[in-house]
Amino acid sequence: MRILVAGGAGYIGAHMVKCLAENGHTVTVFDNLSSGHPEAVRWGRLVVGDVLDRPALDAVLQADRYDAVMHFCARSLVGESMSQPLVYYRNNVLGTLTLLEAMQTAGVDRLVFSSSAAVFGQPLSERIDEDHPLAPINPYGASKWMCERMIEDAVKAFGLHAVALRYFNAAGAAPQGRIGESHQPETHLIPNVLRAVLEQGSAAPLQIFGDDYPTRDGTCVRDYVHVDDLAAAHLAALQLLQQEPGMHRFNLGNGAGFSVREVIAAAGRVCGRRVPHQVAPRRDGDPATLVAASDHAREVLGWKPRYTDIEAILETAWRWHRAPVY
Ligand SMILES: NC(=O)c1ccc[n+]([C@@H]2O[C@H](COP(=O)([O-])OP(=O)(O)OC[C@H]3O[C@@H](n4cnc5c(N)ncnc54)[C@H](O)[C@@H]3O)[C@@H](O)[C@H]2O)c1
Repeated sequence: MRILVAGGAGYIGAHMVKCLAENGHTVTVFDNLSSGHPEAVRWGRLVVGDVLDRPALDAVLQADRYDAVMHFCARSLVGESMSQPLVYYRNNVLGTLTLLEAMQTAGVDRLVFSSSAAVFGQPLSERIDEDHPLAPINPYGASKWMCERMIEDAVKAFGLHAVALRYFNAAGAAPQGRIGESHQPETHLIPNVLRAVLEQGSAAPLQIFGDDYPTRDGTCVRDYVHVDDLAAAHLAALQLLQQEPGMHRFNLGNGAGFSVREVIAAAGRVCGRRVPHQVAPRRDGDPATLVAASDHAREVLGWKPRYTDIEAILETAWRWHRAPVY
């Protein structure tokens, strides 16, 4: 198939491009490089452009016949979304709207969309399945919810077929491939833990935001899902769209939660070094526990994460962070 990967120069998108190419698909990446890296696009053609730019999208979508679009573009810093909500709604919601319009015009009717666990807001249950109420508590999560809603309406109205994949915490890096996680600023735990290891003595220690949560060791518990496992779920989603038209939603996590202290301890073992850290106050809006119930993805997509062990995930991330290419 010929696939347009919007946002394919970013962390998860670049791993997707690698996976698509390895499975025989032809890829064009469309990315404005606002948080992506041209060096990460190693298995496809890169077109630099913005999903808000309708003529640029039209030019790409009409130059070739695409079988599907995968849409990873977003601003995704929760804290920043609280202080700049309109920037988030413009980029994430209007960007998705513009992409949907351009797809409709070009007659491309299959979409896999990067949604997020942030659509659920404060969890009402220990594990979050697809029936959990959608009640985002920040503009980032609300923007993803709005996108899902627009996509669903487009599916009903004009025969688009779509899968929304709600990732929990993407983590790790392709074991081979010279691609990895590189955000600026970095807000994700694992890259920050590894940075604290690499920069000890010269930089501030890792901050643990709160150690008085109702969890087994008082720190927040999250579900870390390997980025290659996410890419495999997208591939299965593409296949599903060929067999089962309509709108589908899946929660993607590895189903096991790890606390911040457990991640720090595992990183210490993987790196063979101490992780300098200190406890800081809680951050607003951090739920104690966020763990996915991914049974639906297992049953319908036949998806089974290969990386269930936090040390195995950390090893792949460590390989990248010790010698990042970008
Ligand atoms: N990383 C995670 O743990 C996680 C969890 C849940 C959901 N998500 C979602 O997955 C997607 C990918 O996340 P990521 O961590 O790879 O982020 P990323 O920032 O590394 O990648 C996003 C890519 O989209 C591009 N982009 C952003 N706005 C654009 C625009 N208007 N036009 C064209 N390109 C644009 C960026 O340049 C970047 O290359 C995002 O939609 C994010 O919200 C990520």
